[in-house]
Formats: sequence, structure tokens, C-alpha cells
Amino acid sequence: MTARDGTRQLPRTPLLDWSSFAGPRRLAGVPSIDDMAASCLTTSGRAAIYLALLQLRLDPGSLVLVPTYHCPTMVAPVILAGLRVAYFGIGATGLPQLGTIADATAAHAKAMLVSHYFGHPRSLAEVRQWCDARQIALIEDCAHCYFGSAGERPVGAWGDFATASLSKFFPVPEGGVLASASRPIVAPKLTPQGLRVELKSWTDVLESAVTYGRLAGVGWVLARIFAIKNRINRSRAAAAQDESTAPPNMMLACDMGRITRRPASTAVVLKRLLPHGRIITRRRSNYAVYAQYFRQVDGAYPLYPEAAADAVPYVFPLWVDDADRVYQNLRSLALPVFRWDRIWPDTPLLAGDVGPSWSRHVLQLLCHQDLSDADVTRTAVATLALLSAERRPTGSGTG
Ligand SMILES: Cc1ncc(COP(=O)(O)O)c(C=O)c1O
Repeated sequence: MTARDGTRQLPRTPLLDWSSFAGPRRLAGVPSIDDMAASCLTTSGRAAIYLALLQLRLDPGSLVLVPTYHCPTMVAPVILAGLRVAYFGIGATGLPQLGTIADATAAHAKAMLVSHYFGHPRSLAEVRQWCDARQIALIEDCAHCYFGSAGERPVGAWGDFATASLSKFFPVPEGGVLASASRPIVAPKLTPQGLRVELKSWTDVLESAVTYGRLAGVGWVLARIFAIKNRINRSRAAAAQDESTAPPNMMLACDMGRITRRPASTAVVLKRLLPHGRIITRRRSNYAVYAQYFRQVDGAYPLYPEAAADAVPYVFPLWVDDADRVYQNLRSLALPVFRWDRIWPDTPLLAGDVGPSWSRHVLQLLCHQDLSDADVTRTAVATLALLSAERRPTGSGTG
């Protein structure tokens, strides 16, 4: 698959390949969400947040605290659960700034959603204490950290419930986990997926792999089958590509349709089957490659130049001064970069909160296991070129 500039397109998500089955099953000393005492699989991370809220059996309209720096899929489940959202600010470590929560708000809040951003889990000791003192349930959002330790506890073990997203760490189109280290999980009533969804899910796994040249040996057969299928679907695909000229309807964009479904068997089977060792080591290694490139750059700096020894990163977060231009250019080159620039419409500006500036300035450079050192280098070099173009005085360009 090629990008608009003719270069090979890089995958934004993990891919199934023969190498996905290689390596150690677990790495000693690296805990994971799988270690929680109670857990159940869901269709996504957003479904897990929704189902965590249902487990709490809150009165309709109860207040849930959510960070100002968020992906809309963290807010949509609260609203769909019939609850109200109140926002808190975050500090430079990504931890909640508890001082931004007014006493009156805290007194009414029944739950709090706290994320370990970018796969850099932090101790939630202070947050846990704050929640306990106010009888607020803590939902620990581990969408970015399936693996690792959050200070004194393994990831997921601080929350009354922990939620995770499988598609960020495993080669599955969707999937999530609702877990708890301390509370039983009342089995949610989930409706089974139909055969069509099951087939589509496996097709998506294989097609993504083949599109990016994986599964050598059988890829060419599959590629031919997918080419015929796509020719038939071309008109539908063209409509779907019409991404966003209209203003986004947040709830629609969050695609919450399947949150009360059972996860497809791709999530169940591949989560059980695939070893963790390679996922962990490749991510750490890719993070280190980014860190070398961005050690000292004008116009940008890494939020966390080094990943903690016990972290397993999701992305390399890079603060960029001229973020709008750099991000648009990286996206037009189809490089594996995200930015959380779509925040929920009523998100407030709070004194001392870094959330709004992160939404604009922090680029999330993906470091998943199916990006090679060369892929990461290409992304880093393209970013550096854009950053230095910014510094070139006007009129001295090549064009
Ligand atoms: C921090 C965080 N929480 C929750 C979610 C929702 O996860 P999923 O995409 O699996 O629904 C995301 C998705 O990007 C996320 O980044």
C-alpha cells in the first residue's frame, strides 16, 4: 500500500503476521491487564468504560469526573450511560490536578475516569486516596497501557474497575477488557455477534495484514480474494472515504453501536493465542528510537524523553510548537501519528490545566510492535524535516 507521495504506507495499528506468534509468552516482571482477579471481554475500550459505569449502578444523572484531555470515546460512554460529565484538569505528568475540582463538584461526583496517557502509567496513590475520602469510584483507563506497573501497583490495580483496549496492542479490529483487582464483575448481558460480523472481523484482520505485505506465503492468495471483494464494494468504500467535510457529531463519530455486544472471536482467540514478549520489547525499542531523534530539536520536545523501565508505551508523545502545520503534513504523508484535537464541545478551560494545550500541541507518534526501526526512523525524519522547514526563513524555500 502506498501513500500519496509514492512511499510505502505505514500501519497505524498492530498487524497479524507469522512473527506475531513468536517470542516469549510473557516477560518476567511485566504485569498486564490479564492478571486482574476478575475480567470480561468487551467489543472495545469505550464499551468497557460504559460497562464499568453500569457495574457501579449509579442513579441516573449522577456526576462522573472526566479529564479535559481526552479522546471523545472516553466521554461518550458516560453520556450513553445516562450520567453527567464534569471535567478535571491534568498536570504535566498527565495525572489529575485534583485542585481543579470544585468542592461542590467533588461532593456530588460518584465516579472518576483516570487515564494512564500514552502508555506511561503513574502511581494513582493520591487519586485513590482522594476518591476513597469522598466515596467516589475510580475507573482506571488502561487503554494506553495494557502492560506495566503504575507506581506501587500493576496497571489496572488502582481502580475499582480497569478498562483496556485490545486493538491498540493486538492485531484485532476491535476489542476491550473490563477488569477489576478488587471487586467482582457482574456478568454484563451482552448480545452475541452475528455470523456476518464474525466473518467481517476475521476478514479485517487478514486484509490489514495482507495490505501491509504480511503473512508471506499465503498473502498473495488472500490479496487476490480481497481485490475481488473490494472491486464489488468499491462504491461503498468511496462513500466511506468521504471523511469529514461536515462538522463532526461527536456521538456518531464515536461509533458506540456495538457496546452491548459480545466481542468478536478475533479478540477472544488472538488475545489468548498471541505471546506478549515481542509486543513489549518491540514497543520499548521503537520508543527508544524516537527518543534518540527528538533528544534536542528546535520547535519540539518529547513529553517524556525516556519511558520508565516498567512501562510499555502506546505512543511517543511529542510537543510541537507549530503543531497544526506539522500534524497536517504528517497526516497527508499517511504517517502513523495521532492528535486528540476533537474534544467534547463543552470541555472547559481550567486554570493551570495542560489538557487544552496538549490537545493542540501533542502529537502521538505510534510505536507499536509492527513498525520496524526503519518505519520509526522514517516517521521521525519526516517530522524533523517539517520542523526544520518551519525554521527556514520565508523566501529561502526550494520552490
Ligand atoms: C485513553 C483512551 N481511553 C479509551 C479509548 C477507547 O478505546 P477503544 O478505541 O478501544 O474503544 C481510547 C481510544 O482511543 C483511548 O485513547
